[in-house]
Amino acid sequence: MMNPITTYAPGRAELLGNHTDYNEGFVLAIAVDRGTTIRGQARDDRQIHLHSREFGKTQVIALDRLTSEKVEPWSRYTLGVVDQFRRNDLPVEGFDAEISGNLPLGAGLSSSASLEIATVLFLMKAFGARLEPMQMAHFAQMAEHDFVGVRCGLLDQISSLMSKAAHATFIDCRSFKIRHVPFPDKTSFILANSGVKHALVASEYNERRSDCETAAHALGVKALRDVTSEMLQSHKSDLADRIRRRALHIVGENERVLAGSDALQQGDIARFGKLMFASHESSRVNFENSCPELDQLVETARQTPGVYGARLSGGGFGGATINLVEAGREDEVIRALTASLPGVDCLVTKAADGALEHAASHPTL
Ligand code: GLA
Repeated sequence: MMNPITTYAPGRAELLGNHTDYNEGFVLAIAVDRGTTIRGQARDDRQIHLHSREFGKTQVIALDRLTSEKVEPWSRYTLGVVDQFRRNDLPVEGFDAEISGNLPLGAGLSSSASLEIATVLFLMKAFGARLEPMQMAHFAQMAEHDFVGVRCGLLDQISSLMSKAAHATFIDCRSFKIRHVPFPDKTSFILANSGVKHALVASEYNERRSDCETAAHALGVKALRDVTSEMLQSHKSDLADRIRRRALHIVGENERVLAGSDALQQGDIARFGKLMFASHESSRVNFENSCPELDQLVETARQTPGVYGARLSGGGFGGATINLVEAGREDEVIRALTASLPGVDCLVTKAADGALEHAASHPTL
């Protein structure tokens, strides 16, 4: 029997910077204190036996016959990473692995990226590839593009991998320079899962991405990162209304991330919270990636004492809101949210370590 291996990667929550990642803009995110674990070992027959505890299902496939169509959707996040290793001539063989975890699926906490990153770490340990953190994030992202069909940016993968406890992770999605900004203590986050799952998330997401590309093209820039509010204002009549609103969201989000990062440096949590509310409003009106349930949760948060700010977190079209809350008042806030949207599922988290820090502090993982 070969040596058993265990790897772990957390989910993430986006604090500010919605859909800015693939526009080469800025993001502030955290890793949450829950995630996905993979346990298993290499096999010597080029077969993959993958089991999901959550789904109670097993997928068996020969490494050499691996394509996304041949495998079940739940297994594509893992097997998509295997496929990236193969395409990039990284060492990979058959293996047995079991996936388990404590992240709610489809709740906007990126259980998908946590699974992809845990897989990258698992394959590296099992077969000896040496990768830089940005390469690891990149292979995880490409697994999602090629095997799942979502043209996501790198926010989820980077924050799952590189976050640090008690800090927000600032990502410049052009240079890919990462900065850890201390998060004022005496705060916690409540992730409120609306339970709404939009049927067309992947296609809506990809449509938003192509709207942004259309806007950048019409404005003659490489990406919306290069657009300022003033530029947008002076080119107002050159853009169709929908495209202009999409661009307005991204430009505003980039400005809010920079302002939010300053606010955090100064320990001004109230200002940070206001930026979160403004971000949600822009999602609702300009990017149209909210839904009535998320709007309801944010409206309730706005009226609840102890909440600094709230907004949808992640792709949108359902999923969760993130609420920045005064520590000690979590229960009252959860009561208010639950009363306003029955069935909402709330989870309290602090900014946690990403997979790299987690592995460093748990060497026996
Ligand atoms: C999803 C994607 C990310 C990012 C967010 C929106 O989580 O996977 O790349 O685009 O949506 O900010």
